Order: sequence, then structure tokens, then C-alpha cells
Amino acid sequence: MAQYTPMIQQYLAIKKDYPDTFLFFRLGDFYELFFDDAILASRELEITLTGRDGGGSERIPMCGVPHHAADGYIAELLKKGHKVAVCEQVEDPKEAKGVVRREVTRVITPGTMMEGKWLTDKENNYMAALAQVEGRTGVAACDMSTGEMYVTSLAGQAESVLDEALQYRPKELVFFGLAALPKTALPSTVVDAHQLDVFAVDSQYAEQAKGLDVSMRAAVNALLFYIGTTQKRSLAHMRLLKQYDAKQYLQMDGFSRRNLELTETIRDKTKKGSLLWLLDRTQTAMGGRLLRRWIERPLLSRDQLEARLSAVEALKGDMLLRSDLRTCLDRVYDLERLAGRISYGNANARDLIQLRMSLEAVPELKQYMIQTNTPVLMELANGMDECADIVNYLAHALVDDPPISVREGGMIRTGYDEYLDKLHTASREGKTWIAQLEQGEREATGIRSLKVGFNKVFGYYIEISKSNIANVPAGRYERKQTLANAERYITPELKEREALILEAEEKMIELEYQLFVAVRSEVAKHIPRLQNLAERIASVDVLQAFATVSDERGFVRPELVESGDYVITEGRHPVVEAVLEREKYVANDVEMDQTNRQVLLITGPNMAGKSTYMRQIALITVMAQIGCFVPAKQAKLSIVDQIFTRIGAADDLVGGHSTFMVEMLETRHALQKATAKSLILLDEIGRGTSTYDGMALAQAVIEYICQKIGAKTLFSTHYHELTGLAETLSGVVNVNARCEEREGKLLFLHKIEEGRADKSYGIHVAELAEMPTWVIERARSILTGLEANGSTGNGNAASDVQMSLETLWTAPVAAVREEPMQFASAEEEAIMAELRELDLNSTTPMDAMMKLYAWKQQLKKR
Ligand SMILES: Nc1ncnc2c1ncn2[C@@H]1O[C@H](COP(=O)(O)OP(=O)(O)O)[C@@H](O)[C@H]1O
Ligand SMILES: [Mg+2]
Repeated sequence: MAQYTPMIQQYLAIKKDYPDTFLFFRLGDFYELFFDDAILASRELEITLTGRDGGGSERIPMCGVPHHAADGYIAELLKKGHKVAVCEQVEDPKEAKGVVRREVTRVITPGTMMEGKWLTDKENNYMAALAQVEGRTGVAACDMSTGEMYVTSLAGQAESVLDEALQYRPKELVFFGLAALPKTALPSTVVDAHQLDVFAVDSQYAEQAKGLDVSMRAAVNALLFYIGTTQKRSLAHMRLLKQYDAKQYLQMDGFSRRNLELTETIRDKTKKGSLLWLLDRTQTAMGGRLLRRWIERPLLSRDQLEARLSAVEALKGDMLLRSDLRTCLDRVYDLERLAGRISYGNANARDLIQLRMSLEAVPELKQYMIQTNTPVLMELANGMDECADIVNYLAHALVDDPPISVREGGMIRTGYDEYLDKLHTASREGKTWIAQLEQGEREATGIRSLKVGFNKVFGYYIEISKSNIANVPAGRYERKQTLANAERYITPELKEREALILEAEEKMIELEYQLFVAVRSEVAKHIPRLQNLAERIASVDVLQAFATVSDERGFVRPELVESGDYVITEGRHPVVEAVLEREKYVANDVEMDQTNRQVLLITGPNMAGKSTYMRQIALITVMAQIGCFVPAKQAKLSIVDQIFTRIGAADDLVGGHSTFMVEMLETRHALQKATAKSLILLDEIGRGTSTYDGMALAQAVIEYICQKIGAKTLFSTHYHELTGLAETLSGVVNVNARCEEREGKLLFLHKIEEGRADKSYGIHVAELAEMPTWVIERARSILTGLEANGSTGNGNAASDVQMSLETLWTAPVAAVREEPMQFASAEEEAIMAELRELDLNSTTPMDAMMKLYAWKQQLKKR
């Protein structure tokens, strides 16, 4: 077997340590990928696959990207969920003996991206870990770009707590100690027991980690371990460890979050059209991220909610103050990510200027907050550290408009460093000397067009045009370069000055860089102060966003009650209302309580507004429980502990399960976990199976909820038979989405009113859809039969179904009699005729038996 070249051997040795990453191998001005990496990357990035001799028997697949364009390609791979290891040349190729030494300098993964250009402002970039130890599962999630880390622990197996981790919409998962890995499409890494001491607590979290149980520690440690292996830099900014109990928030499972379109729409997965989109009137990036977190974790504590609502009320009531506050917030940059970059060591001078400008807005911001005279806002303001020391320090150290690069100088302000100022003076004096030289030489030679110039190759020179060369005194200059129409000269003094200037400039750039790094490190010492401030600013920002949207859209403050009552007057769906714009959204009331009106059974034809009504109620609940005003004329709400939804039979086809199975899984989930304080939305369940099954299941589910759980429930159904339940089950009430028939057209009023829908409009809709007349007529006659037989609503839906189905069986005869029975054969006709003629009075049992036997034989022959 042929031997690979030394470089390929080096590649293979490095690649061995990074098996699941794309290895970007630096080769001159390119990053090259080899072997399978190359094949896959050429496909993912749509770049040309080539080959290279590497000493082996076959050419090695290869593809490459220019090093200066690498970021774009890396971002592309990260977006697709891949990891990338960047392998650099770590010695000067000119000095290398043999193959240039190379090392992986960073591993970039979807969950550990830090660069601003790869991140979305108003979105966190989380990665999460699940760690199972001693029967509990710890869930930790962190965003490296902001330095946040959250941790909780849940009883039970990882599969059931995966939901908790997925709430963060992590880009990547880390597992530890799991018996079986949950199925997910996310990039995942398993950390082994021998890699990790679950009890060890990393020093940066030493204080905060004291209260953590072992599963939480394991989760935090697994995350830190993984991050440590990919990042080869300081993680000092990751200091905020927040432990929480999932039960302190309103619980919603993944299905429900999706169904309610809280942060993205079901159809195209975009923010536009979601509740988040409607409410996002935040001015800062961290406010935007906090809003998302609040929406994902509504509160249960009435005190906390009242506090938020009072702040919103104050800000909503004072438009001028709010507008000032918004303008002020607009001056604040992304403090959290600035802090992250500062401590991570990749912030530039412009970042520090942004930090300074953000901090400069704080005193004014506090003023406005205190002016509201509202406890929450005043408390938030009083805890805001203006960081005047940092502002002063930065103002003293850095100029106002530094360049993007930190390697060109031009960052440090005069007066900050004595030596730097001296170098500046030397360089300035040198330049003055040169300017004066030009003037002096013009006078001395009498050549008025003489000028002093500079270029990178020759440095400073004196230039004289061809026509004047004759006037140059002999021996005055040394000739250096001849151009088409000029000569360039130097003098020893000029070169001496030049050396001084260049040396000073080189030193200045190097010194500026060092000073800048020192300034950055100094600021990095104050990261926790900045993070604390950022958190407070984010909170005000979200509160003012609530006030702004509530004012603009006419939302009202909900009254939170303990009674179990749930009454909304003229409620609206906040997003549908906003999208409808000109057309008027029809407001609807809701009245529910813990006893007489616990389950609302909603009937009405398709498109009548049932689903919208149900979603509207859930969204109003979520809005109230994040502390926002709600779209209604008036709302008296009891705090809800969990929301379950089962909406839209055709909406989701989750891999592997039939729609009906998904439906049953989601319904089971609700039945298992709901309490009397929960809100359950079941939208047309039972549709995915036969009428019989579906209706029976639907009824059983309603009975179970009513009798065993007591949760407030909205149940829409197309089984009109179920409306009979209202008479037998106390707590079940019929409402319907009203429609009217006008001039042969069905008019959807979108108005929810008491009572059952009195007519099925299905056939009408079919008619509008131009179904064959035969089908329409036939359906009408079947329906008449059904109605005559009366699904009278005696309260027993299942027996109603039975009756309806019997009616259905008998109906065909009635309707089709006029037409010939096409299915009867000649033999059958003959048998029928015989049967009709048979006189039973004169037939012995034996004869009857014989006759039957004969007929059977006849039929068998067919
Ligand atoms: N209250 C309302 N006011 C105005 N339009 C509404 C209202 N409720 C629903 N709609 C409109 O009617 C359409 C159908 O509503 P939907 O709730 O899906 O009906 P259903 O679930 O009864 O089939 C929605 O897309 C929406 O645009
Ligand atoms: Mg619907």
C-alpha cells in the first residue's frame, strides 16, 4: 500500500480527533477539506469537488474555500446543523522544516456561535444538556453569546423531560448518563461518565451551584465540559447561573406552544403572524430576547403579575413619558452580547464605544422609570448601576470613532498613555519636518513644482518633473527612481526622518493594540455588573413594549381572581384581529366557571370561527399571565396552571404517527396532567377515526374531564349528537358559532352564542362546492331520515349514534326504491319470488329447512 504524503498524514492525525466535524484545513490562502468531508461539503455548499494526489493509490477528494470568505461557508454549514473545526498553520511556512505545524484553533458548533454575524439579534442561541443521575434528569441550557445559564431538574426519564430542554429551542444537545437517547434531529453529543465528575462544580459557579442537586450539577458540568472542548478561550462571562423550578411557570407542552403560534406560525415557521410578532415593540435586542422568554414561560404568581400589570398600566397611561423612554432605550446596544464579546476577547474598539454610549443612556432612563412612581419600575431603576466609572474610563481611553480593526491604531485617545503620546509627537514632528523640507527645497532650488511624496516601497522621496531636472543643483540629491515624466530623489536626512516616523508608527500600532487589549480586560472585570444592568434594561423594555401595544390596540388590564371564574367580555384574537385590518374582527364573550360552566361544547359549520375562538381564549390567558393587557373590553380571569391544546386534525403529520395516533397521544397527555386549574382546548377530536369510535371517544373524554379533572375545557365538535350532553352532565354548556343563510349563501357571522347549532350546514357547503346534484339530493334525504328518527339529545350520545347509524342503514331503501335493484342477480330474483309466494301456514319445519337448504345451494353456485 502506498504511503500518504506527510501533509495528508498530518491531516489524518488531526481529523481523528474531530470525527464529527468538517475539518477546515488551512493550506496557504485556502481552507481545504479532504476525503468524505470534501464530498459532503461540496454537496452542502455547492462548491466544486476536485481531487489531489496524496501519495495513496487513488486521488483524494478535495474541495476548498478562500480563507477570507470562509465565514460565509462556515455559517452555511452551522445553519444546517453541522460542526466545523478550523485548523490553522501555527508556524511561519518560511521557517518550517518539513510540514508546517497545524492545530485546530477553534471548533464552531451551532450551539456555541459567538460572532454577531451568525446570530439573530432578538433570539437567544441556546444549547442544552440533559443529564440523568439517580433517577432525576437535570436540564441545563446556556447561551454563550450572552453568558446566561439556566438549570432545573425533573423527576423521571429523559424522554419526558426532553420537552423542557426543547423549550429553549436549542441548536444543539449534550447528553449525559441517559439510558436511552431521545430521538431528535438536533446535533447531539454524548459526554461519557469517565470524562466528567458530576459532583465537581466549576469555580465560576461555585457559589450559585451550592443548592443544586446532583442531576443539575451533572447537566451544568456536561455543558461546560462540552463547551470547554470546543472553545479554547475564556468562558469567564458565563457567570449567571439561574436555577428554577419548571412548576413555577404556566406549563405548556411542545404541541400546545406550536398550536398556539406563540413565537412562530405553524405553516411557515416564521415569527411574523405569531403572538411574539404582535407584542414585539421592544427597542433593544435583549428586550426582544426577554420578551420571547416571557412568552415561553408565563407566570403563576398573582403578585408578580399584578406588579408587571401595574407597570404596564403606568406606562400605557403616559404616552409622552413612554415615548421618551423608548427614545432612550433606542440608544442602548446589545449589552449582553457586548459583555460576552468583551470577556471572550473578540470585542473591538467600536464595541467598547457602543458599550459606553449604552451606559450613557442609563441615568436618563432611570429618571423616566422613577417618574412613573410605580413600585416595579422604581425597584428596577434603583437597582440599575450607571457604571459611571466604566463610562469615564472608556471616555478617557478611547476616541469616539475608532476603526473596526484593532490592528491599525487610531483607537486610543491623546492623554491616556504618555509613551504613546510621545510616539505621536515624534511622528507628527517628523511629518512637520518633511512638510517644511518641501517648502525649503523649493526655495533653495527655485523649482516650484518640487514635492515630497510617500509610497510603501520607497518611503519618502522628493519628486521633480522632467522639465525641471536641469535646475537641480549637482550632488544635492541622490537619485532613486525614474518615472516617465519625473525623477525621484532622496537625501540622507530624509531617510533618517523617515526611519523615525515609520518606527514611531509601527510602535504606535503595536502599543495601541496592547493598550486596547488592556482596556478590554479591565472592562471585562465588570461583566457581572453589566449583565445585571442588561437584565434590568431588558425588563423595562418588555414592559414598555406591552404598554405600547396595549395602547395602540386597545387592550385592557385583566382582573385576576381566585374564584375560578373566567369571564371575557368582547374578547378578540389579538393576531387575527391585527391581520384582518380593515375587515372587522367580531368580538366574542366567554363565560366559564368552576361549576356550572366548566366545559363549553362548541358546534357550528366549518369556517364559522370555532378554532379561532378557542385559540383566542388561550392567547388571552397567556397574555394575562405574562403581565400584558388583553384584547377585550373587560376580562376577569383565574390564573391557569397549564394549557393543553389539541387543534386542527389535518395540520400536523408528525413523522411516524398517524394523525389519529397523534391526536390520541396529545389528548392522553392532557388527561394525565391536567388539574382543575388547567385550560384544555380540544378541537374536533375523534375526526381521524370512524364516526362511531370518534363520537364515543369524544363523549368519554368530556365525561372524564368533567367528572375526574374539573379543568376548564373548550371542546369543538362536528358531532351534533354530543350537544345532548349538556342536559345530563352538569358543567357542560352548548355554545355555537352562528351562521345565517341568505339568498342561498351561507353567511359566517363569527358570533359565538349560547345553545347548540340548530342546523348542519355541511350539505349547504357541499352545494356551494358544486357537488353533483345527485349526491346533494341523496344527502338531504339521508339527513331527513336521521332527523326524523331524532338525535333528540336524550343525553346519551352513544345511543344517539346507534340510532343515527340504524337510520342510515334503513335510509337507502327508502330513497332508492324507484330505481331498479341493480345488484340482484337472476337467481336471487327467483329466490325472492319464491320467498314471496311461500305460505308459511302450510309449511312444516322440515319443509322450511329443506327449502332453506336448497336456496343456499343455489346461491352458493354463483
Ligand atoms: N371572530 C371573528 N371575526 C372575524 N373573522 C373571524 C372570526 N373568527 C374566525 N374568523 C375568520 O374565519 C376563518 C375560519 O375560522 P376558524 O376558526 O378556522 O373556523 P372553524 O374552526 O369553525 O372551521 C378564520 O380564518 C378567520 O379569518
Ligand atoms: Mg376549526
